[in-house]
Amino acid sequence: MSPSGPRRAQATDPGAPPTLVVRDVTVRFAGVLALDGVDLTVRPDSVHALIGPNGAGKSTLFNVLSGVCRADSGSVTLAGRELTGCAPHRIAELGVARTFQNIVLTRGTVAQNVLLGRHVLTRGGFVATALGLPGTRREQRIHLARAREIAEFVGLGRLFDIPVDLLSYGDRKRVELARALCMEPTLLLLDEPVAGMNAAERARMAATIGRVRAALGLSILLVEHDMGLIMRIADEVTVLDFGRGIATGTPREVQRDPEVIRAYLGTGIAGASPSAAEEVGR
Ligand SMILES: Nc1ncnc2c1ncn2[C@@H]1O[C@H](COP(=O)(O)OP(=O)(O)O)[C@@H](O)[C@H]1O
Ligand SMILES: [Mg+2]
Repeated sequence: MSPSGPRRAQATDPGAPPTLVVRDVTVRFAGVLALDGVDLTVRPDSVHALIGPNGAGKSTLFNVLSGVCRADSGSVTLAGRELTGCAPHRIAELGVARTFQNIVLTRGTVAQNVLLGRHVLTRGGFVATALGLPGTRREQRIHLARAREIAEFVGLGRLFDIPVDLLSYGDRKRVELARALCMEPTLLLLDEPVAGMNAAERARMAATIGRVRAALGLSILLVEHDMGLIMRIADEVTVLDFGRGIATGTPREVQRDPEVIRAYLGTGIAGASPSAAEEVGR
């Protein structure tokens, strides 16, 4: 199995890349309209950025997409399959993997953390694996080989057996990415993948995200504040403000959109300078 191996079959159109369609999604939290009729379409094999000022509803939308939060109304489909109302593990099985804004890693080695992503695919399940039941050893070997391959792919090959708490911040963010990729997703949700990174780490991560999309043929939806990085790697951008979608288009289009400039007044979206990511090829 190689990183460019066949992607998971889709429910409605076997072999076709997935399309994520969010239609008219609304989420209320006791008086706060966190999402107000949001529409968004992530095209197959694309990198789609979700941006907006703090409190705009970006994390809430990610929570809806991954099943952590239930929409009050509207629908979310992946390759024509309804995700609304599905439990998080079911959504993961259907091919949606995510990373979190704040790193969520357990103790243990890179290998152990990356392997956690395989559990969604492990037929033997946790109990059988723990008891070492027949048939599961072979399964474990296959999962370990795939985990190693993905770790190498994101640049963690040398660190595979190192405890995660000895890694740099940038490498720990990579472990999260590798763990998500280990679920063999067709849609990858990245919540601020370069937040807190220095320029060199940002450039490396931008290059990795580009390679992931190209080699694994999946769609990526990312929340990110670094406009330089978005200009470099995103095909399309959706802008949220106070829970509403106010613009969708190419990075250049939304950067020039008067309503977007208004929403970002004083925070400088239009004048966002190219980050180190600009220097990295896709
Ligand atoms: N669990 C929650 N309970 C109450 N209000 C929430 C909750 N989560 C988010 N909100 C509110 O919903 C709005 C959108 O928040 P969020 O999705 O976190 O925005 P963003 O990620 O764009 O900064 C904000 O007004 C926030 O205070
Ligand atoms: Mg957020």
